[in-house]
Amino acid sequence: MLVDEFGREVTGVRVSLTDRCNFDCVYCHNEGLGDTRGPMDPQDDEMSADDVVRFLEVAAEFDVDAVKFTGGEPMLRGDLTEIVRRTPDELEVSMTTNGTFLPGRADELVDAGLERVNVSQDALDPDDFAKVTQTGAYEQVLEGVEAALNAGLAPVKLNMVVFKGTKPYLPEMVDHVAENDGLRLQLIEYMPELVGNADWAVDTAAMHEWLAGRADRIEQREMHGRSRYFIDGGMVEVVDPVGNEEFCANCHRVRVTHDGYLKGCLNRNDDLRPMGEMTRAEIRETFRETVANRVPYYGEYMVEEDGEWVVNEKYLDDPPTADD
Ligand code: 5AD
Ligand code: SF4
Repeated sequence: MLVDEFGREVTGVRVSLTDRCNFDCVYCHNEGLGDTRGPMDPQDDEMSADDVVRFLEVAAEFDVDAVKFTGGEPMLRGDLTEIVRRTPDELEVSMTTNGTFLPGRADELVDAGLERVNVSQDALDPDDFAKVTQTGAYEQVLEGVEAALNAGLAPVKLNMVVFKGTKPYLPEMVDHVAENDGLRLQLIEYMPELVGNADWAVDTAAMHEWLAGRADRIEQREMHGRSRYFIDGGMVEVVDPVGNEEFCANCHRVRVTHDGYLKGCLNRNDDLRPMGEMTRAEIRETFRETVANRVPYYGEYMVEEDGEWVVNEKYLDDPPTADD
């Protein structure tokens, strides 16, 4: 098990398989690459299935026990099923998708070893949905969620990015998961970094208060310090990296970009390490280096000094442990 200087064990990897997407969500951070490399482009710079699998095998050696495949839209990769099938058994396999390609393919993915799925869905009304995704494939997404449920992937988590544009849809989304047994709602605080539009952010404290007012029961999860609200038989989880001081302290994931760079934090692009086409020994070394250099992003672990974000000194001497 690899542990970083802040006591955070790395137990998960998030692997972007492509930066291509058939949607164009207004808030999309493109897996933290933002606009730094131009818009999502259909170039053939993606890691090969062999590269992805080799990396996952090394990750398994380091006791990583979960992989999340993401994009862009991971289902645009024709070899996704092969990659899932070849993922080492030690890793739990999940995927974040916009759902449009799940009809017709959910079964084969489950057969290959897919265990959980998050489907991005920010609205219930087709017009609202089209405004956010700048696409109109709403029916396909509903069918995708249905296909995932039928393939045995319940509970399906609906990812809703909460920002000015989606905030009005929150009550109906909460009711929607309360009415549907197989669904859970994951509310994700909008991250303006690398996207811009800081004024789109919403006050998460007020959102927590509103959820707490409706909840029969509230739970705190260790992972990312997330809160879970049980509302009318439905479950709503909040992922709030910006508003939650504990979030980064409880982050146990490293990331791989679609073009084969390992990075320690979604929001940092100063720690990208190339990794595609490497030997196992080289990947091991790169993995160690990346973990050794991981630095939390949000919260009190970073402080601003002369206009720059630096590590809060007290945490250099006395790093928090993963259980804090
Ligand atoms: N802020 C927060 N979450 C985002 N996502 C995409 N862009 C952003 C952003 N700017 C989330 C969406 C999507 C997942 C891949 O990443 O929930 O489902
Ligand atoms: Fe970005 Fe996901 Fe929307 Fe595609 S579906 S544009 S990857 S947030």
